Amino acid sequence: MAEIVKVQGLQKKFGKFQALYDVSFTVGAGEVVGFIGPNGAGKSTTIRTLLGIIQRDAGLVEIFGKDAWKDSLAIHSRISYVPGDVALWPNLTGGEIIDLFIKLHGGGDQKKREQLIERFELDPKKKAKSYSKGNRQKVGLIAALCVDSDLYIFDEPTSGLDPLMEAVFQDEVEKIKNAGKAILLSSHILSEVERLADKVVIIRQGKVVETGTLNELRHLTRSTITLETSGDLSTLASIVGVHDFVQTDQQATFSADNQYINDILLAATKLGVKKFEAVPPTLEDLFMRHYEG
Ligand SMILES: Nc1ncnc2c1ncn2[C@@H]1O[C@H](COP(=O)(O)OP(=O)(O)OP(=O)(O)O)[C@@H](O)[C@H]1O
Ligand SMILES: [Mg+2]
Repeated sequence: MAEIVKVQGLQKKFGKFQALYDVSFTVGAGEVVGFIGPNGAGKSTTIRTLLGIIQRDAGLVEIFGKDAWKDSLAIHSRISYVPGDVALWPNLTGGEIIDLFIKLHGGGDQKKREQLIERFELDPKKKAKSYSKGNRQKVGLIAALCVDSDLYIFDEPTSGLDPLMEAVFQDEVEKIKNAGKAILLSSHILSEVERLADKVVIIRQGKVVETGTLNELRHLTRSTITLETSGDLSTLASIVGVHDFVQTDQQATFSADNQYINDILLAATKLGVKKFEAVPPTLEDLFMRHYEG
């Protein structure tokens, strides 16, 4: 897979404060990469170095094989970017601003523009200063989605959108993904990342601490298992890999380290399994577990 984005050993200091220590990841063509981490972890700083807005101190940052800082002009004509707080010209209407963004990009799809305005239920005739937060985001999203880019960078794009509009966004991202475009999506809405991302990059205190597909990351964590057996379940509580064991009569619920799942199941079948339920961890479980240590 051709690498659209390549970040290697990225470092960035603001004065004496080291915001990024070691950030490395790639985004391939047709790949949606979820970029997640707690507040202040360095997501937006990473994205701003990708966009050539700020200059890095060390490391490699390439888009389309070009240097993100030196070749930013050439790169920009092929990317779309939506920040979490879209800033607009207050005295222009939403429609005028969308057209301006499209022009700056060197053209866009007019039919798509109309479709998106309709789907996002935006009134394009209103002046930007009268828009709510959610409506400002819609202007940015519509402008970004109706131009044909090779890379879409979203930094908390749906902040302020209601759940219905959030769903429209997800739908539209799926379309560009299916068209083979590359997408870097930073978001605190983990269900959004879970639905869309092929790969997840977790950043914490300026370092990438985990990278992989959701399935790969799930292996690092635990599933929730509910069991009902004929025999005495309490013996399972002390098996290696069993955590948070809770028993009520014939039924027990616990979390199980995926690496010990075979031993746990072998022990359970000896008791005569009557009911078995396993729920894989959500991205949220994974995230929480990671951050709680
Ligand atoms: N221009 C700047 N000057 C000084 N410090 C900065 C600057 N920009 C970012 N920082 C600091 O760098 C760290 C990373 O910030 P960044 O905005 O990248 O975090 P983030 O992961 O995007 O967080 P959030 O989830 O809140 O958006 C923070 O501690 C922030 O205060
Ligand atoms: Mg941010």
